[in-house]
Amino acid sequence: MRSFIFLILSFFSTMTFAAPTQVIVITGASRGIGKVIAEHLASKENYRVYAGYRSVDSIKVLKERLFAIPIDVQDNSSCQNAINMVLSREGHIDVLINNAGCGILGPVETVTMEQVHKIFNTNVYGAIRMIQAVLPNMRAQKSGKIINVSSVAGLQGLACWDMYCSSKFALEGLSESMALTLAPFNIHISMIEPGPVVSDFMDHSTEVGNRNMMSNPYQILVKNRLNQLCKSLNEGQDPKEVALLTEEIIQSPTPHFRNLTNEAAKDRVKKKYNDLNFDNIITEGIIHITPLWSEDFKN
Ligand SMILES: NC(=O)c1ccc[n+]([C@@H]2O[C@H](COP(=O)([O-])OP(=O)(O)OC[C@H]3O[C@@H](n4cnc5c(N)ncnc54)[C@H](OP(=O)(O)O)[C@@H]3O)[C@@H](O)[C@H]2O)c1
Repeated sequence: MRSFIFLILSFFSTMTFAAPTQVIVITGASRGIGKVIAEHLASKENYRVYAGYRSVDSIKVLKERLFAIPIDVQDNSSCQNAINMVLSREGHIDVLINNAGCGILGPVETVTMEQVHKIFNTNVYGAIRMIQAVLPNMRAQKSGKIINVSSVAGLQGLACWDMYCSSKFALEGLSESMALTLAPFNIHISMIEPGPVVSDFMDHSTEVGNRNMMSNPYQILVKNRLNQLCKSLNEGQDPKEVALLTEEIIQSPTPHFRNLTNEAAKDRVKKKYNDLNFDNIITEGIIHITPLWSEDFKN
């Protein structure tokens, strides 16, 4: 009898249990960081990935386990339809990744209200639309993960990035509140806060503030900032590292809420949280930005 029990126990100890398949929806996956995350996750057997594209009008198979799905995050019904489509095919959604985003460069005085609306409509309201659409299913199943792709710019103000920073700060505030509200439903919220990452971001999504002004006193600053940002993105982090971090968050039973991807940015954010009245940060920031007002500034 004892050897029989031993046999059974050793049989079970050598058995490997396949992890259940997780269904993932990611917005803004036609290019850049979102595309790399979607392809990376779909290369693993235990994920089925629905990658949001604005350029498709129905679900299309891209690769094994990877499907393009129409999602324009600026459109209420597009977000709801996408979630409904995935639920009708899969029955459940385990992970929502809000990645779609865009930027507008320029101080607040230079941007039009249409530009302000566009950036908030994508970076903030777009995430809210997707979250509202997915939550009923996650609450009912008492599990789920929502990963919001924010930015270092969601934790730290950056010169000339006024609208982009304010949209990402809004996403951070929303997410901190949601994390507390949704914890009893076993729904985890995580932020990914990349520093510069090599992507098409500056080519496609970064408009410059184009409010009609008599004269624009910020022109030199904006030009130098644009060159500086393009350079830092070109020399930035490999998006594959962001994809690996995303996978880590998905796999962890207790993922971190905040996930900065860039070591230098971690130090800056720590410094910020230690400077509650913000005096040192402003003083250092001014020293950093002053040279950018000069025509002769070289990166
Ligand atoms: N690159 C960086 O250094 C960096 C750093 C920190 C944070 N981030 C954040 O990372 C995310 C991805 O950025 P990225 O660098 O990969 O930029 P990207 O290459 O410009 O890709 C942006 C993606 O968002 C999609 N998108 C834009 N507006 C949309 C809308 N209304 N509905 C649905 N999709 C929309 C684009 O789709 P289309 O092809 O249809 O335009 C594209 O797939 C963004 O949230 C960005 O703020 C980037």
